[in-house]
Amino acid sequence: MFVSDCLDINNDGHLTIGGIDTTEIAKEYGTPVIVYDENSIRNNCRAFVGSIDKYYNGNGRVLYANKAFSCLEMCRICNDEKMGLDVVSGGEIYTALKAGFPAEKLYFHGNNKSYTELEYALRNGVGRIVVDNPEELGNISEIAKKLGVTANIYMRIKPGIDAHTHDFIKTGQIDCKFGFALETGEAMENVKLAISTENVNLKGLHCHIGSQIFDVDPFVLAAEVMMNFIIDIKNETGVVISELDLGGGFGIMYTENDKPVAFEKYMKPVSEKVKEIATQNGIPVPFILIEPGRSIAGAEAVTLYTVGNVKKIPDIRTYVAIDGGMTDNPRYILYQAEYTALCANKADKPRDLEVTIAGKCCESGDLIQENTMIQAVEKGDILAVLTTGAYNYSMASNYNRVPRPEVLMVKDGKVRTVIRRETYEDIVKNDV
Ligand code: LLP
Repeated sequence: MFVSDCLDINNDGHLTIGGIDTTEIAKEYGTPVIVYDENSIRNNCRAFVGSIDKYYNGNGRVLYANKAFSCLEMCRICNDEKMGLDVVSGGEIYTALKAGFPAEKLYFHGNNKSYTELEYALRNGVGRIVVDNPEELGNISEIAKKLGVTANIYMRIKPGIDAHTHDFIKTGQIDCKFGFALETGEAMENVKLAISTENVNLKGLHCHIGSQIFDVDPFVLAAEVMMNFIIDIKNETGVVISELDLGGGFGIMYTENDKPVAFEKYMKPVSEKVKEIATQNGIPVPFILIEPGRSIAGAEAVTLYTVGNVKKIPDIRTYVAIDGGMTDNPRYILYQAEYTALCANKADKPRDLEVTIAGKCCESGDLIQENTMIQAVEKGDILAVLTTGAYNYSMASNYNRVPRPEVLMVKDGKVRTVIRRETYEDIVKNDV
């Protein structure tokens, strides 16, 4: 029944995370609250870092895609685990620097980085800027010149791969706001432009084919397309690209319908393809980067809510209202994302009641899950939604002026706050 190894049921029949009773956590910290298991996050980091060692002799780097869940403590953990960070905004760069993260291990993505953000990145020595469009290339060159530095850049390439996932999170195809298209010649044209641009050093290429992908084939195909492009660049310009960032997107388990593939299963065939093409063409195997986000943090957290009213509409459905909703988890309203929910204080009981979990916002669509099976839930119960570690807090809002929840981490039997609960004072702090 469980989507993550960090979850279990104790002798009282309560859901535990990292061995700690979630109902006790709810009592002490209040709800809604998001609780991460730190050891599981670290295990995921180590699995990815270990696979770079194993399949590329350590000639590569794992970047945590910070957008999945960004805060000071996550940056510290990733630094500790010898990873880099994929950052997509001035705010994410600021968070990382504030956490003491080495700037040279920050990789700056985004389809519309502002001049100010680029300047901020270059002034602070951000390691790589992933160029999305020619205007940005011009801005980077201008700023680098002004600062008397050379910017190390990647080019974001659309490899044209359909990774069979939700339309909103498909980013490898030609009709996509990110990067340069291969098939139209746009990518080659801009690579040539980058090579001839002053104050920039074209270090590598980047692609990201989508998110929550379970198939191995699209990753292998993306690696093949990107390696072949590296060969084309060498043939046309003589320049040998030495770094290749293959993005993230590895799928995780939200419900029993999801069948995640072990990381190794992606890494092995992808690395074989990369090495095969490098060997065949007599170029060194590039320094490889991968950018897992969801697969680092997603399954390693639960959100705990207190159940308010339970509204039975005869012959239609039963609404279970909780004290959070789309403000802490907008993924159902955005993507109809599936989740596993259960009653944390009745976790050992059968899930034999069909309910719709409704948030507290003044919005009919504010639902967390429709027609899902949970235990016979009553007012005052603690409802746990599993796999809420990625793209929940990071996409949270203050709609209806609802304060964002507290975020906790558990480790070795101890609980600590990593993001404080917002107060009403926080809600008005920017109002004038
Ligand atoms: N690298 C790049 C360039 C990305 O754009 C992303 C995610 C990742 C890595 C990490 O992908 P992951 O391993 O987490 O799948 N808000 C959506 C997901 C948006 C993904 C954005 N880019 C959701 O909640 O499903």
